[in-house]
Amino acid sequence: MKANLIENLIVSHCTGEESKFANAVYELIKDEEKKGNIPLAARLRKAYETKQKSKSEPSFNVSAAGFAPQSQAIAPRDKDSLLELYEIVHSDIKLADVILPETQKNALEQLIEEQKNAEALKKHNIEPANRLLLCGPPGCGKTMTAYAIGHALGLPIAYVRLDGLVSSYLGQTSTNLRKVFDSVRNQRIILFLDEFDAIAKKRDDSNELGELKRVVTTLLQNFDNMPANVLLIAATNHEHLLDPAIWRRFNLTITLELPDEAQRLILLQKWMNEYAISESLDYKKLSKITVGLNGAQIKELTKAAAKKYVINKELSTGDVITIFIQQQTMYSGSNDDAMELISDLNNKGVSLRSLAKAVGITHSTLDYRIKKYRGE
Ligand SMILES: Nc1ncnc2c1ncn2[C@@H]1O[C@H](COP(=O)(O)OP(=O)(O)OP(=O)(O)O)[C@@H](O)[C@H]1O
Ligand SMILES: [Mg+2]
Repeated sequence: MKANLIENLIVSHCTGEESKFANAVYELIKDEEKKGNIPLAARLRKAYETKQKSKSEPSFNVSAAGFAPQSQAIAPRDKDSLLELYEIVHSDIKLADVILPETQKNALEQLIEEQKNAEALKKHNIEPANRLLLCGPPGCGKTMTAYAIGHALGLPIAYVRLDGLVSSYLGQTSTNLRKVFDSVRNQRIILFLDEFDAIAKKRDDSNELGELKRVVTTLLQNFDNMPANVLLIAATNHEHLLDPAIWRRFNLTITLELPDEAQRLILLQKWMNEYAISESLDYKKLSKITVGLNGAQIKELTKAAAKKYVINKELSTGDVITIFIQQQTMYSGSNDDAMELISDLNNKGVSLRSLAKAVGITHSTLDYRIKKYRGE
């Protein structure tokens, strides 16, 4: 086989350019035919065309399609960095483990049911919802929710981190986006665009405004041409940055909020259970004082408490509060913020004694500082 033909084959495969890859395959086949290697040429043709045929028959029915996620989903690459533009993820996160308000859970379950019954809906000319936008502050479960949907549907997730795709060189972004959409369009797959605002954020850079418009246009075109076998999920912390034209493309938008008191109670108990900590703690009190924490921070708190239990063989509610205050004052850095938190916790019923212990000062010093802070 000629080295240059093999080189073409490898480069087009690595950059994910399907049409160039097809040309390279057929050039190789022609060359082998010319040289009289007819059986080899026939085998190459058969190998390529069989794969193409199975790719062009997307099905909602995963098992009927003989779905082989790892072998089918070949991620395209950025032309310059040669980095893969997405990663294929097979999630094992259960929807039951995502703690959300009932209405949001119901909306997600409805989407999952529509996707599961996509074939039946199609027979009635009904398109299942297949574009979901997840919004909300950091650490509230957007990525986790997308993964849980993947698990519930038994589908692989093409996980695209848009900041990576955009950062290198904006001129290349439209091409990259097109490659991503092209490579999934014939598959039964979830296309997950995480950090979706990365595109919109580039607006701040006025030098690149023209290019950005082209990127948004490419995105809109790809959204509009996206086949129903692809379930698109996008996640963002900065939904206000998104172009209204992009917003309109989604069938369903869910804004994940910080967990409320009842959800914090579930999360604290759930993780303590998972860490096999059976000490009886005042979860009501803990959920009350941890207002403002996101799911990720609650997990961090629970983990630190569990470590303390494993090392000291005991854990009280006071110990968890101590860890909470230490973590919070460490985040805030400023003295005033720390006093605000301590004063607030005191108002919520945490004793001055446990607060003093947490920050490592005497009861009377803390009493003095709180009074000063409150202007009493
Ligand atoms: N609602 C929730 N239910 C259960 N666990 C949660 C929830 N929210 C956050 N967590 C925990 O916090 C971790 C981080 O959450 P996740 O990465 O999904 O947040 P995110 O909203 O995508 O954040 P970011 O905007 O920073 O990407 C999860 O893996 C999970 O352990
Ligand atoms: Mg995330």
